[in-house]
Parts: sequence; structure tokens; C-alpha cells
Amino acid sequence: MTKLGLASGALAAAAVAGETPASAAATGSKLRVLLVNGSPHMEGCTYTALHLVAQELQAAGVETEVFHLGTAPVQDCMACGSCKKHPGRCIWDQDCVNELIARARTAHGFVFGSPVYFGHPSGRLLSAMDRAFYAGGDSFAGKPAAAVASSRRAGSLATLDAIQKHFTIAQMPVVSSFYWNEVHGFAPADVMADEEGVSIMRQLGRNMARAVRAYAVVPAPGPVEHKFTHFIR
Ligand SMILES: Cc1cc2nc3c(=O)[nH]c(=O)nc-3n(C[C@H](O)[C@H](O)[C@H](O)COP(=O)(O)O)c2cc1C
Repeated sequence: MTKLGLASGALAAAAVAGETPASAAATGSKLRVLLVNGSPHMEGCTYTALHLVAQELQAAGVETEVFHLGTAPVQDCMACGSCKKHPGRCIWDQDCVNELIARARTAHGFVFGSPVYFGHPSGRLLSAMDRAFYAGGDSFAGKPAAAVASSRRAGSLATLDAIQKHFTIAQMPVVSSFYWNEVHGFAPADVMADEEGVSIMRQLGRNMARAVRAYAVVPAPGPVEHKFTHFIR
């Protein structure tokens, strides 16, 4: 599993070639899922859950990369509109969001994980996702995605809902497991003791492997004409 935005050799080659899912399937090169850790803890509970998903992806022959948002501040969207003039790039270059967009461009699927903070995703994950999807939506559009929440006790469903809204506005199929994608714990050992949560993550990894394979060979439909209205005439 690659960590901290460092690509493996095959992946780096694919990234240079600007490979799409369909071309990855055609060339037989590896599919890759980007797992985003929205916790400030590098190897905490959220990471533990993502790691379980990644293990199953790797067992199915899919490459994985963990992108840690880390502890540095992540700016919220300023709604400045700069990204509409310069698509694919946020004007705020002092944090990790433009790197996230760049890593997403060549990924074939995504898992966004977050700790639950007061019943919602971490502020850093929401700020990063708002800006990455607003400025770099094309890097995510149409690719399979899953949300994962780690809580000590409660608030996972609202957390999953907030993350998944980014997917469903970007035509991304939402990948699920046999129960909601949540684990519970205050420390990684708690997560590993949550046997149902562990098996939910493992099934999610298998389902995600299937989804990225399927979407690699089935071409996207053509776009309908978009209407953009503000509920006024
Ligand atoms: C600011 C803050 C708010 C939290 N709010 C909740 C909460 O609403 N519900 C809950 O069950 N756990 C809450 N927790 C606990 C974490 O969600 C939980 O321990 C999580 O598994 C930590 O994941 P991590 O190790 O990846 O950071 C909160 C933790 C912090 C730091």
C-alpha cells in the first residue's frame, strides 16, 4: 500500500500517461484506489478501517494509495470562483487540496474515511472535499466511491451522508457493504475488536474491487444537455 502521495512505479507510469479507467483496462495496467484519511491521526481508527479495505483491494489485484490530510490547516472554500476560470486547480495552494486533485486524476476509485466529530465528518475532510470537488470535479466524476466513518459511539450515519453527497453530485456510483460503512473505537485496537465493523470493511474492499473493474470496461454514457437554473424564470 502506497502512503502519503508516493506512487508506485506502475502507477507513476500510468499517471504520466494520463491513463483513464478504460485505457487502464485496455493496457492491462493496474487499477488504483485512493483512500483518503480525514483524521489528523496518521494511524488511528479511521486509518485502521481504511487499511482493512485496502488489504482486500490488494488481494483482488487493485493498487491502493492512502492520502493523509494530516494535521496542517485545511482552508475552507472561499467561493472566489477562480477555479471556474482555471478548472482543476484551487487558487489556495498552501495546503494539500491541489495535491489531492492531482492524485485523484489518475485514480480509478475512492474511499473517503473520517472520524466522527460532533456527529459529522472532520472539518478538514469536509473543507478538502468541498474544494477538491468544486475545483477538480472531473478528477472524481463517474468513478466508484465509498465513505467510511469511525466513531467512538454515535454519529456515523450523518457523517456518511455528508461525505456521500459529494459522490452523488458527481455521478459517482456509491459502493456499499452488507451494513453501513462504520467502525467504532477510540483507539485502533478497539476497531480491530469491533468484529462486525472489521468484516464490513473487508466486504467493502471486495465490493470496491468489483466496482472499479466493472467501471473500467463499461464506457460512460454521453451527457444530456445540462440546464442550470436558480429556480427563477
Ligand atoms: C472533536 C471530537 C469530536 C468527537 N465527536 C464524536 C461524536 O460525536 N461521536 C462519537 O462517537 N465519537 C466522537 N469523537 C471520537 C472519534 O470520532 C473516534 O474516537 C474516532 O474513532 C477517532 O478516529 P481517529 O483515530 O481516526 O481520529 C470525537 C472526537 C473528537 C476529537
